[in-house]
Amino acid sequence: MVYSEKYTSWTRDDILTEVKSKMKIQRFEHILRVEKSALELAQRYKGNLEACSLAAILHDYAKELPKETMDSIVQEEQWNPEILQYGSQIWHGPAGAYFAEKKFGITDETILTAIRDHTIGSEKMSLTGKILFVADYIEPGRKFPGVQNARALAMESLDQAVMFKITQTIIHLVEKGILVYPETLTVYNAWVRNKEEIY
Ligand SMILES: [Fe+2]
Ligand SMILES: [Fe+2]
Repeated sequence: MVYSEKYTSWTRDDILTEVKSKMKIQRFEHILRVEKSALELAQRYKGNLEACSLAAILHDYAKELPKETMDSIVQEEQWNPEILQYGSQIWHGPAGAYFAEKKFGITDETILTAIRDHTIGSEKMSLTGKILFVADYIEPGRKFPGVQNARALAMESLDQAVMFKITQTIIHLVEKGILVYPETLTVYNAWVRNKEEIY
């Protein structure tokens, strides 16, 4: 994959070298699998291959960064500090978008938003956003119960796969007694309201 100038001046290899240096090998391999799944979905649903590749290889860049780094980004960008309470599981999305822009020079809002929202989804997602959100959930390394359903749905309807992930994620959090980031429920409600358009 060669990226056009309008997206980034970095090559894919240089991005991967940098991404790899910031995380455990298992997570790096996850990222490569997400990219592969994202490109398959992009082909199926006529998405933008370059945008999907970039969003995929950068989506978890911030996942293993120390909380202090996130603290300083929240200060610098004047984000609502409430996000810090929900852990890296939630904040690595916005932090990833921050680095995609500041470090890798990406200005394309669709890519940045896809990365920013990949942890919880959003009310209105672009095709690239939906592809990343679903690819992250169904990549071949995922083993959770229901992943086969998710993969089958993704072949039929991207929207149904997005809805499935949003719903299953909330069920999982509630069952495990984990805090639910309030925005997650807002996203869920928005998708439930849109249900007639999806099914
Ligand atoms: Fe992630
Ligand atoms: Fe991921």
